Amino acid sequence: MTKRWLTVMLLSMTTAMAAHGSVTKAAFGTTPDGTAVDIYTLKSDGIEAAIMTYGARVVSIKTADRDGKVANVVLGYSALDGYEADKSSYFGAIVGRYGNRIAFGKFSIDGHQYQVPTNNNANSLHGGTVGFDQLVWQAHAVAEGVEMTLVSKDGDQGYPGTLTAHVRYSVHHGALRIDYSISTDKATVVNLTNHSYFNLAGDGQGTILHDELTLLADQYTPVDAGLIPTGVLAPVEGTPFDFRKATVIGKRIDDDNEQLKIAGGYDHNWVLRGKNGEVKTAARVYDPASGRVLTVTTTEPGVQFYTGNFLDGKAFGKAGESHVKHSGLCLETQHFPDSPNHPAFPTTELKPGETRHSTTTFTFSTQAK
Ligand code: GLA
Repeated sequence: MTKRWLTVMLLSMTTAMAAHGSVTKAAFGTTPDGTAVDIYTLKSDGIEAAIMTYGARVVSIKTADRDGKVANVVLGYSALDGYEADKSSYFGAIVGRYGNRIAFGKFSIDGHQYQVPTNNNANSLHGGTVGFDQLVWQAHAVAEGVEMTLVSKDGDQGYPGTLTAHVRYSVHHGALRIDYSISTDKATVVNLTNHSYFNLAGDGQGTILHDELTLLADQYTPVDAGLIPTGVLAPVEGTPFDFRKATVIGKRIDDDNEQLKIAGGYDHNWVLRGKNGEVKTAARVYDPASGRVLTVTTTEPGVQFYTGNFLDGKAFGKAGESHVKHSGLCLETQHFPDSPNHPAFPTTELKPGETRHSTTTFTFSTQAK
C-alpha cells in the first residue's frame, strides 16, 4: 500500500469515528435509599450532552459560541444532592406522568373518576408529589445515545394503568434528539416532556431576557389564576404573546397584561402550527452576545414557553448552587396542559395496545454578529 493510500484510509477512519461520536457511562452518586445513579456522556460533532438516570435528566449540554468557546448551556447542579433537594425547578428532567397541570388533580376516563395528588396549590403539576423527575430510570447505551426506561405501576400517583416509558436521547451534528415511546395496559392519560432550562450564554451567565425568540404559533392557551387553561385558543396577534417574528424576550415581559401578571412572566402553552404528530419547527432562540442559536423541532402540538419565573436564587445541595429569576428558559414540547378536562384539545389518552411516539430535537448553531 502506498503512503498516500494509507493517509487517505487513516483520514477516513478518523472522520467516521468523529461522525459516530461516543457514549460513555460513569457513576453520579447514590440516592438516600441506596440506588446507584449513572450519568451518560454523549459526544458528537459540535455537541456534548450528559444525561443521568435520576429523572432521566439532561445535566449539561456543551456547545461552542460564535468564537468557538465551549460552555454548558443548560441550568443544573454539579452533584446529585442539588437535584434531589430542589423539588420545584425540575432542571433537565423528564416530567410525568402528566407534564404541566391537571385542574384539581381530577379527570375521568370511560366514566371512571381519578384523583391525582394536588402538589401545586389546588392543582396537580408534573405528575404529582413523586413524579418521573424523582425516580431512577433504567438505562442502556444505544448508537449515539442512551435509552432510559421507566415502568410506572398501575395506581402510581393515582394514575391508572402500568405505564412503560422509553425515552431515548441521541446526539447528531450539534443536535440533541429525544424520542419518546410510551405504552400502557389500561386506558390512561400521559404527557411527557423534557424540562431543560436553556441559557445560551451559559449556566450562571445572567438572564435570558436579552435573547431573541421566535415561536411558530398563531394562538396560545390563556390561563386562570391557577395557571390552568381556560379552554380558549386565543390569537397572539396584538399581544405580548406574539413571537411570530423574532422578538427580545424582555421587551414586553413587564407589560400591563393580565396573563403576564398571573404567571409573573411567560409560563404559557403555545398552539403550534402544523399537524399533531408531524415534525415542525416550534421555536428559535438567538443570544446576540454569544451568537448561539437554539432551534426546536417537535411532533407535539404545543410548547410551554416558561421564563424561569419561580427561580428565586435559593441555594441547593452541599455546593450551595443557586439560580436567579429568568436565568433560564424552558421550551417544553407537549400536549396542552389540563387536556384531560378539555375534550376540544388534542387528546392525551392512551389505550392498551397503542404506543405513543413523539420526537423533539434541540439543535445548536451559531450566528454571526
Ligand atoms: C412549568 C410550569 C411552571 C413551573 C415550572 C417548574 O413550566 O408551567 O409554572 O411550575 O414548570 O417550576
